[in-house]
Amino acid sequence: MDSDKICRKFTEFFERKGHVIVPSDSLLPTDRSVLLTTAGMQQFKPYFSDADKAQQVLCCTRAASIQKCFRTSDLDEVGDDTHLTFFEMLGNFSFGDYFKEGAIKFAWEFLTEEMKVSNEKMHFSVFEGDKEVPFDKESVEAWKKIGITEDKIKKFGRGDNFWGPTGEEGPCGPTAEIYVNDVEVWNLVFNEYYMDRKMKLTKLKQQGVDTGMGLERLAMVMQGKKSIFETDLFEPIMKKIKELEKEKKVEERAMRVIADHAKGSVFLINDGIRPSNVEQGYILRRIMRRVIRYAKLLELRSDYFDELVKVVVKIYKKRYPELEKNEKEIIAVVDEEKAKFEKSLSNGLRQFEKLSKDNEISGADAFLLYQSYGFPLEITKDLAQEKCVKIDEKAFEAEVKKHQKASRAGVEKKFGGAGGFGERVARQHTATHLLHSALRQVLGDHVQQAGSDLTPERLRFDFTHPKKLTDEEKQRVEAIVNDRIKEAIPVTVEKMKYKDAVKAGALAFFKEKYPEEVSVYSVGHFSKEICAGPHVKNTSEIGGFKIKKEEASAAGVRRIKAVVG
Ligand code: ALA
Repeated sequence: MDSDKICRKFTEFFERKGHVIVPSDSLLPTDRSVLLTTAGMQQFKPYFSDADKAQQVLCCTRAASIQKCFRTSDLDEVGDDTHLTFFEMLGNFSFGDYFKEGAIKFAWEFLTEEMKVSNEKMHFSVFEGDKEVPFDKESVEAWKKIGITEDKIKKFGRGDNFWGPTGEEGPCGPTAEIYVNDVEVWNLVFNEYYMDRKMKLTKLKQQGVDTGMGLERLAMVMQGKKSIFETDLFEPIMKKIKELEKEKKVEERAMRVIADHAKGSVFLINDGIRPSNVEQGYILRRIMRRVIRYAKLLELRSDYFDELVKVVVKIYKKRYPELEKNEKEIIAVVDEEKAKFEKSLSNGLRQFEKLSKDNEISGADAFLLYQSYGFPLEITKDLAQEKCVKIDEKAFEAEVKKHQKASRAGVEKKFGGAGGFGERVARQHTATHLLHSALRQVLGDHVQQAGSDLTPERLRFDFTHPKKLTDEEKQRVEAIVNDRIKEAIPVTVEKMKYKDAVKAGALAFFKEKYPEEVSVYSVGHFSKEICAGPHVKNTSEIGGFKIKKEEASAAGVRRIKAVVG
């Protein structure tokens, strides 16, 4: 059964069972406490504590989706038979509706009747119980009612059979898992608790269900394959890599990493993320650079990245038609990153050879490769593994922290000091925040700050956006900023923990530069950003705002130059 058919069967099945089918959310989550969407439940998080809200918004207390997910937690395992960074999660959800027995029955019926998976291939697990959360005997009873014998039901603790929350707080609960041929395929989470930031559990006033089944793993079962890389979701990519190999080195692990990371890159770029040195952008950069380095190792034909983008688009365009529309843009982004990294890659590899002479890469060595040659830690780790060289990861992390502290001090110095340069650009600085929010309002939430530079004469602001702004868009942005200036809104500042600031919805795209306690500057309800300041006290001080130029800065990044006064 091909994966498109599996998806169709899944949504049709749950629709018949009274679920509303909700499209996948973006990989850039609405829930800002996490960097990327890692599970299907994220877009439904509020409904687990508020079924009425689900009813209001979704007109239903049952939902199902096929969610694009990206997990960095499995990065080191990519290359084996079952782990990926980007994957799709088939999920059904109940908000105060059915609970354990209902969820177990649905899962069983779908697998045995729709997918025709035989009972003998499956086994199950439930939560064994601990001091806080009791043994999940309801799930065991539910399995038994279906006819599963107890010897097929394993019991595990918190590490395996308890899930959530995503971010730092939220719904969570014990899980029941379904294994096919010893591979975990479906995770049924019974959300009956809420975990707060101190990790304290309280019972939710309603019970909920959040399930997640990896599409690639189910496809592996349905297509009788030994690895996810042999399924129809990967086979065309693997075939293409082999075609692109000049020397036919056929390093299976390297090919698998290329296939997974190239696909992940396509989907991250498609959702508006661009390679950078911070947050989501750095996740993208890390996987793209790993593709580039492995492609060099395998000596792939020089246009390999474009070719990989094209096969990924071909596999998924039926279910994600926007991929085809964005294909050119995605190719432009990968080409630019490739050109950038290839310049330093060969020198970096030579440097690695030198540094690894005494069979150990110290934290400072890894940091040098990172800072001067743009090597993400994964690449240095791959190289170390290939050369059987030891690497001190902990010391590397310490080096990064030390460096961040130093650069933070630099930032504070640059913008600090009464009467200094900082004071003179306060108006440009506040205008930049207004511009940022106005751009997001007019163009969409994919807009992220990609850089900014202020002088007393002008402000320059780089941001992610795939195309040139129309005259109308520019006028609207300008008008919004000028309206906020005319409204004479006070600019307020508050000190808070970085994590709380992000939770409060403050925009923060330069995480690495910030200390644990940060300043959050707000312009009424219009703008809220983590920032070192300084700013004006009232927007009226800006006087006025005029866009002078809008142009491309890099692939997928636009640049606005503007003046105030
Ligand atoms: N939210 C659960 C998971 O991601 C289903 O595994």
